[in-house]
Amino acid sequence: AGDAKISPLSFAQKYPALVTGFFFFMWYFLNVIFNILNKKIYNYFPYPYFVSVVHLLVGVVYCLVSWAVGLPKRAPIDSNLLKLLIPVAVCHALGHVTSNVSFAAVAVSFTHTVKALEPFFNAAASQFVLGQSIPITLWLSLAPVVIGVSMASLTELSFNWTGFISAMISNISFTYRSIYSKKAMVDMDSTNVYAYISIIALFVCIPPAILVEGPQLLQHGFSDAITKVGMTKFISDLFWVGMFYHLYNQLATNTLERVAPLTHAVGNVLKRVFVIGFSIIIFGNKISTQTGIGTCIAIAGVAIYSYIKAKMEEEKRQMKSA
Ligand code: 3PG
Repeated sequence: AGDAKISPLSFAQKYPALVTGFFFFMWYFLNVIFNILNKKIYNYFPYPYFVSVVHLLVGVVYCLVSWAVGLPKRAPIDSNLLKLLIPVAVCHALGHVTSNVSFAAVAVSFTHTVKALEPFFNAAASQFVLGQSIPITLWLSLAPVVIGVSMASLTELSFNWTGFISAMISNISFTYRSIYSKKAMVDMDSTNVYAYISIIALFVCIPPAILVEGPQLLQHGFSDAITKVGMTKFISDLFWVGMFYHLYNQLATNTLERVAPLTHAVGNVLKRVFVIGFSIIIFGNKISTQTGIGTCIAIAGVAIYSYIKAKMEEEKRQMKSA
């Protein structure tokens, strides 16, 4: 009977696709909960710079505790590794804060619709920053994405420029994050890499939070929130939103380790479909017909773009091996 037992390791080795599927599922699940709890907090405590710091702080404490108990064992770091990770972490911090400024300013569904443009920014960066030539068909396939997001934005009921522009800046930041990540392909497991990135990003986020929101928070920000929901709920909301934020990002990084970057990018857009759907249902947001159609066109556009890009990469591979 002992032979029939399957150890977790052999199960993972035997069914890698099942394990990858589980990673995707957990990533989406944690992300949907994060987005909903996060917006609930902004509805009574509209301080995105401070909340961004809390997200990272809870994650860093979680990492320090995990390292202390050896799960995972802390990977050593030196100045060369640090130099490679700093640009990734700075872009992570910038994209994180700007996403949150947008979440606080407009409907969650709208921020994620704008963030569905990320593949477009990636393509633009490949061409204009990295100098790779992007075929015209690929550019054309991105047209529906841009048209869809434009349509959705024009009639978005919660639209304001802060929400729109900060979501666009987060697209640029996360595109640079992926460029620097490629350069920083270090010989370290993804959980450790993400732990170091969180620590650096935390230090980057603290000064702007103090400068932008410090005085207001001390004057009435904290006291207003406590009056509205009570101290216990306020602190537990902040703790849990930080945990969900850290865990979904860690899962996203672990998933990237298991699949091709393109699959991961497509997976990230699919994640937005779930978040858009759930957030509309839970917050009962009204969306105009044009915004609904625009969002669907944008998402379908990403699917077409990904399909074309995957085919092109396959052809390249076949040409190389021929
Ligand atoms: C963040 O807070 O960093 C945002 O949730 C990022 O959003 P994304 O991981 O969905 O791009």
